[in-house]
Amino acid sequence: MNYVSIAPMIRGLCIDLAGKPQIAVYESAKGEKASPHAMSLEIAGGDTEETIAGNIQKAYTAWKAGSSTGKGEVLIPSCVSLTAGGKTEALYWIDDDLDSARKRLAGRDDSPRTARPIEDGKLIDAAARACVVKNRVALVTGGAQGIGEEIVRNLAAAGALVFIADLNLEGARRLAETVNAAERRTAALALQVNVSDEDSVETMCGAAAEYAGGLDLCVSNAGVLKAGSVLEQGLADFKFVTDINYTGFFIITKFAGRLLKAQSRTAPRWKTDIIQINSKSGLEGSNKNGAYAGGKFGGIGLAASFAMELVEYNIKVNAVCPGNFLDGPLWSDPEKGLFVQYLKTGKVPGAKNIADVRAFYESKVPMKRGCAGKDLVRAIFYIVEQEYETGQAVPVTGGQVMLH
Ligand SMILES: NC(=O)c1ccc[n+]([C@@H]2O[C@H](COP(=O)([O-])OP(=O)(O)OC[C@H]3O[C@@H](n4cnc5c(N)ncnc54)[C@H](O)[C@@H]3O)[C@@H](O)[C@H]2O)c1
Repeated sequence: MNYVSIAPMIRGLCIDLAGKPQIAVYESAKGEKASPHAMSLEIAGGDTEETIAGNIQKAYTAWKAGSSTGKGEVLIPSCVSLTAGGKTEALYWIDDDLDSARKRLAGRDDSPRTARPIEDGKLIDAAARACVVKNRVALVTGGAQGIGEEIVRNLAAAGALVFIADLNLEGARRLAETVNAAERRTAALALQVNVSDEDSVETMCGAAAEYAGGLDLCVSNAGVLKAGSVLEQGLADFKFVTDINYTGFFIITKFAGRLLKAQSRTAPRWKTDIIQINSKSGLEGSNKNGAYAGGKFGGIGLAASFAMELVEYNIKVNAVCPGNFLDGPLWSDPEKGLFVQYLKTGKVPGAKNIADVRAFYESKVPMKRGCAGKDLVRAIFYIVEQEYETGQAVPVTGGQVMLH
């Protein structure tokens, strides 16, 4: 049995008890002596996810028996020791954030914690609202640059732990270092992934379970664009775009969904999110860009369908549809960017320089500017905070696309 796959259920229990995000760091601990204050969980070969979830609840009841807490407080384990056939196999170190959980592991500090779960108030709590992603575990595919980088930086600045999952591992590592230095904590971790490859995505989700115990927010952002006329475009290019933008979202939701489902078995009240970064091209056609727009339209169909199925596990699935992110490398790269390409190919009539091409695209937006990172991160915060919505496509286009 893969003991890492049990981490989301242990994390789920702690989230359910605390009413807020928790980190559970996995440690392989074959034959180690039982930790004195750890919650002990015994598993057997034939156990299923369902029976393990039930056993986790029973183990918690047995562990807390006889302990006393203050009024309205609950006891939370900071270490769970997993045994099979009476022998220790793994330890899971738990705390509110990654650095604290790692410190417990390093210092073998298994002393139990208490929490005072927040009660659901009738009025919106402004302080809680400002902390909507604090200590949540997020994963952003294609997070090393462009829109993904903006999402990573903003989530980390708002207190989340963010996995930067990208084909470009070096870029993801560089960004993680910058973010961690800026935040003065471990706010970001780099992972390599190819979102169009099932094994790679499964490994990525396993890493999220191992390093943090699970996820609260999965942002499927990695995407590519290869424009081309339907009369001319090669099938290989069409498939390349579709594999990453459309099929990639299916693969991400499959494996992140499994992880979130396992976590929800022991955290039945905790809402989690899968968000696809779609595009305004998912809401209206895009001339000579059918592979891209078609995949994005399809993404909205997938989000709505996955939302219907996964609501049972308290997983919300939504899409965000940004307008043109004119400051990102896709548009502004001085060699390969769309501004340069459109200038060279004469796509914008009368444009003499890059400023003319940019002005042309800005003039199409009622709000007269391109989409910025902060605009679409606000939409992500809205989706996470809004517990009563799923299966939607939220436009962030400065009014360029208005829903009917
Ligand atoms: N740039 C825009 O104007 C714009 C507008 C609307 C929507 N979007 C969407 O936003 C998302 C990000 O776009 P961007 O402009 O930031 O792109 P970008 O090209 O700047 O960055 C994309 C990132 O994804 C990574 N990536 C590419 N293929 C991958 C794969 N197979 N597996 C994992 N990672 C991979 C790249 O390494 C890169 O870091 C895309 O889904 C895109 O369709 C972009």
